[in-house]
Amino acid sequence: MWRPDRNDKKPLYQQIADYLEQRISLGELPPGSHLPSERKLAEQLGVNRSTIIQAYENLRASGMIESLTGSGTRVCGHLWGMDPAPNWSRYVEGGSFLPNFPFMRRIREAVQSGEPFINFANGELAPELSPNEEIASIMRNQPFHEPLGYGDPQGYVPLRSAITGFLQELRGIQATDDSILVTSGSQQSLYLITQCLLNPGDAIAIENPSYCYSLPMFQSAGIRLFGLTVNEDGVDPEEIRALYKQHRIRMVFLNPNFQNPTGMVMSAQRREEVLSCCEQLGIPIVEDDPFSLTSYDDAAPPPIKAMDRNGSVLYIGSLSKVAASGLRIGWMAAPHTVIQRLSDARQQMDFGLSLFPQWIAAHLLESASLAPHLERLRDSLRLRRDIMAEALHRKLGSEVSFHLPQGGLNLWCKINRKIKDYHLLNNGIKHGVLFIPGSVFGTEPGFVRLSYARSSVDEIVTGIDKFAAALIETMSN
Ligand SMILES: Cc1ncc(COP(=O)(O)O)c(C=O)c1O
Repeated sequence: MWRPDRNDKKPLYQQIADYLEQRISLGELPPGSHLPSERKLAEQLGVNRSTIIQAYENLRASGMIESLTGSGTRVCGHLWGMDPAPNWSRYVEGGSFLPNFPFMRRIREAVQSGEPFINFANGELAPELSPNEEIASIMRNQPFHEPLGYGDPQGYVPLRSAITGFLQELRGIQATDDSILVTSGSQQSLYLITQCLLNPGDAIAIENPSYCYSLPMFQSAGIRLFGLTVNEDGVDPEEIRALYKQHRIRMVFLNPNFQNPTGMVMSAQRREEVLSCCEQLGIPIVEDDPFSLTSYDDAAPPPIKAMDRNGSVLYIGSLSKVAASGLRIGWMAAPHTVIQRLSDARQQMDFGLSLFPQWIAAHLLESASLAPHLERLRDSLRLRRDIMAEALHRKLGSEVSFHLPQGGLNLWCKINRKIKDYHLLNNGIKHGVLFIPGSVFGTEPGFVRLSYARSSVDEIVTGIDKFAAALIETMSN
């Protein structure tokens, strides 16, 4: 993000006015667009409010912007020498994607502000937890001779074979290369399922709380979501039956291993029961399994897909939580008709994923260094979890409670007093720490998801100090 240069001789207000003028004249801020309030822009650029007041004053004097009482500051509707712009605000309200939830937008804005937050909201691996050396060695030592045309939209064939071998060896899932679709992370599998296999108005069952609640994608597709209670064994098949009777749910979305956000692991018995229930009802299960290989102590039972007898399960996985989210490598193992339909959609969307990350992933999955990498990753995640849990106990004692997750990247923390999510998040931002309020995942206020994989051990300790300060301030108001 652009910031004024404090070493430049030109005054800060002038640099800001010039920058805004340049963006206006390039059409990046077309006539009529709203500018941030003086306070907000001052925060974003790390300058005093008076500097912004002066910059805006200059632009107002040159007829570029106008300020109207009650409606803020905006670029003048008619700029000399410029034709009127299309009414972009009308366009951006259109399209089929709903905007992200306000809490998520608030967190994103805080991250983009460039302030040094300790980020427990980000559910990714810290850069040092990715197999960087392994990837560098693949790129150094393996010759790349692949034709760089549009590839197969179903995915690079050697990667599909590598995924097949990986699923069989590490997850006990039998699949052939033909029944694998390579996707841009598991997120794209979820998107393709909602776009290609469901219709607006369809009802689906999802765990409550669930990662899926945090995705406006389902609402954008007009899908009706019904919650299944998550308890220590996982979801109850009787609830699935009841939802089927009442709402004719068409699919069940589950994240049975180290569920996001609760960390829960569905018991082996529940997996069998849920599968037979869905088989009887004739409804598919989407098994979203990005975390199973982070299992700290072999705590994850075999996936539901490994018990699938008649092709009821669409199994989705990803390298995001075990290698690197930026590779954007995910996959789906599903009946061939489904894979064909989704590959066809894939061709219409983007002609398939770029070959480079697929090529790297194919080598990584087959590399002898993958197993030691996973071993190191689990140790580092377990250590981070322990540090966070210890810091929470020490700083907040009985004000919070949680189960120790046995895998995954997240700690689901209950706040034992009544608080308002919104106040807690605001205080967190004020104290320099980010986390996700539980209501984003569909729960009542009073929970937060703290991700411990993105921060270093020292940052976790400091971050929990800040979180405790924010919580104590929220409770005392
Ligand atoms: C349960 C779950 N599913 C899917 C995803 C999407 O991940 P990606 O698209 O990076 O594989 C996430 C990301 O946090 C997740 O937690």
